[in-house]
Amino acid sequence: MKKESSTSGKYGFTYHIVAPTGLINDPNGLIQWNGQYHVFFQWNPYEPTHSTKHWGHLVSDDMISWKRLPVALESTDYFDKNGVYSGGAYAKNEELWLFYTGNVKDRYQVRTSYQCAAVSTDGIRFEKKGPLFEHPKGYTAHVRDPKVWYDERVNHYWMILGAQRTDETGDTIVYRSTDMQHWELVGSLRNEQQPFGYMWECPDIVRLGEKDVFIYSPQGIEADGDRFNNIFQTVYQTGRFTPEGTFLFDDESTVVEMDAGFEFYAPQTFVDDAGRVLQYAWMGTMPPEMEEAMPTVQDGWIHALTIPRELTYENGKVYQKPIQELQLLRQKERVYEAVEKQVLSLDSLQQEWLMNWEQTPEDVTLVLSEEVKWTYSKQTNELAIERTNWHSGQREKRSRQLSNPLRSLQVYMEASSLEVFVNGGEEVFSLRYFAQENTGQLIVSSSQLVNIRLFTLNAQSFIEE
Ligand code: FRU
Repeated sequence: MKKESSTSGKYGFTYHIVAPTGLINDPNGLIQWNGQYHVFFQWNPYEPTHSTKHWGHLVSDDMISWKRLPVALESTDYFDKNGVYSGGAYAKNEELWLFYTGNVKDRYQVRTSYQCAAVSTDGIRFEKKGPLFEHPKGYTAHVRDPKVWYDERVNHYWMILGAQRTDETGDTIVYRSTDMQHWELVGSLRNEQQPFGYMWECPDIVRLGEKDVFIYSPQGIEADGDRFNNIFQTVYQTGRFTPEGTFLFDDESTVVEMDAGFEFYAPQTFVDDAGRVLQYAWMGTMPPEMEEAMPTVQDGWIHALTIPRELTYENGKVYQKPIQELQLLRQKERVYEAVEKQVLSLDSLQQEWLMNWEQTPEDVTLVLSEEVKWTYSKQTNELAIERTNWHSGQREKRSRQLSNPLRSLQVYMEASSLEVFVNGGEEVFSLRYFAQENTGQLIVSSSQLVNIRLFTLNAQSFIEE
């Protein structure tokens, strides 16, 4: 049987970052360096499973067309032989530094983690520097995902790491260094009001205007109403990261889920040369039985990253917006006005839809290819998205009470993914979907007039090196 490709096949992606084969998960080492955007990513090139992770590598001038570079980091050394796990990048003078976790398992499957660095002067070949420091006391071998930045207030670097305490609860630990080679443990960011689960992955701290935002991906958090319904989720909390390396929370117990959909995990942010805070995430983590049942597995590939999003802090919330450059993908535009029920046929599965309501509608229902269904009711101000779970065959739903009445939806669609930005990014729903027959038929039912703009998006070209 012919295998369907990850970039053009039936469920393939055209403008999202995917791996040519095997499994992609977290975005790593995001940075704009010498003008170019670098995206590294967790990659098992051999098969669509989580076995051997390398760092794949892409560069771009605009985050739209990408050039594939050789694998940046391979799991070939004693300190990373079972996986070059996630981490971040930092550019110092003429050098590009990568920080990552070397994952090692012995013959009894007992894990050791090493926090490592690798350095490049050409942005293509990286020289490993090996482990940077001893494993911290009081933590299990689950310590990983270094994120490093420089703090001008104190003239030194910080590194934060996802961690598990020996009592098997999640944490984020903080190190500091003046030269990125010698690191000293400073403490932990956890407070006892946070739901801490059994492990936190991929912590990140980013400044949005006057706020510091602490983003992390906890595991083992229980569902709470319409929140935390996925196997693992990503959350944020706001406050101030102090010069002492602690976090003063605005409210210790306010933990906000970053994405309201089904697949969104392990995001990473970076600040580009224009000063924008940009984010990619993995779309995304799921129970193992769903991963194994994903229709692309038989074609030898699985997963994708989200589109790049710009983060801002507005109205007491983190907003996520598709980056402006994505408008370069727009080709043909079609414009509609709909009331009651209208059936639209999309002329490809790579589309952007913009829907605007001058008046908040009482009720809206959208149905895509008889598979994905959106419902909104003004009375509850709740937006819900429903799809078929491709493992169980059951319908499943995620919903969110909006902070503001519905006025706009912006949807980025591919043959097997949707990213839905509500009211200019106040909420985002990210999800994969597998329609029985992806006809591209969109049924719009809206009690109030809705203005619709549909754009056919240009297939993105990946240049293989
Ligand atoms: C998050 C994660 C990280 C780890 C990487 C391994 O998805 O589990 O904690 O470094 O993936 O691929």
